[in-house]
Amino acid sequence: MSRHRRKVIYLLGFMGSGKSTVGKMLARMLGWPFIDLDTVIEAGQGLSIREIFENSGEPFFRQIERAALTEASKAEPSVIALGGGTFAQPANIDLIRESGGTTVWLDCPPEVLRARCQGLQNRPLFRDEESFTQLLTQRIPCYGLADFRISTEGRKPEEVVEQILSLRVF
Ligand code: S3P
Repeated sequence: MSRHRRKVIYLLGFMGSGKSTVGKMLARMLGWPFIDLDTVIEAGQGLSIREIFENSGEPFFRQIERAALTEASKAEPSVIALGGGTFAQPANIDLIRESGGTTVWLDCPPEVLRARCQGLQNRPLFRDEESFTQLLTQRIPCYGLADFRISTEGRKPEEVVEQILSLRVF
């Protein structure tokens, strides 16, 4: 007997992989609400992600990220764009997998991620080449636990959305 799959799609992947852009489009196509976890966190704190990291540090950020994730996971239907580190915290992976939704990893080539991260201002964990490579290497095994991996290489956001829709699991 197949387990009931909740109408919740979690998009995961490294900073700059297109989770928010693809998530918004996907939600529009499905007619489902879109939740961007970073935006929820910023609104809740009245601060940017960078300010949260600067004022209170990463452990505090991870606590409020988990609280935001717990709340967001209750919404159905929904498309949820996770932060780049959300699906790298073991407790969050458990919560998400137990939630009964579908996880989709937007797998983007490292050189594209690097170039995009260099252009982003609000990403305190992107510091330099070395920390980028280290973080990406640590996270890939976690991202690999997603139900589906979609390669975004050479694809426009619209094409990535089509790929996700063609999975026909929801
Ligand atoms: C983070 C990624 C960011 C944001 C925070 C931490 C990470 O989200 O949650 O800066 O640990 O990789 P995006 O992936 O949306 O940039």
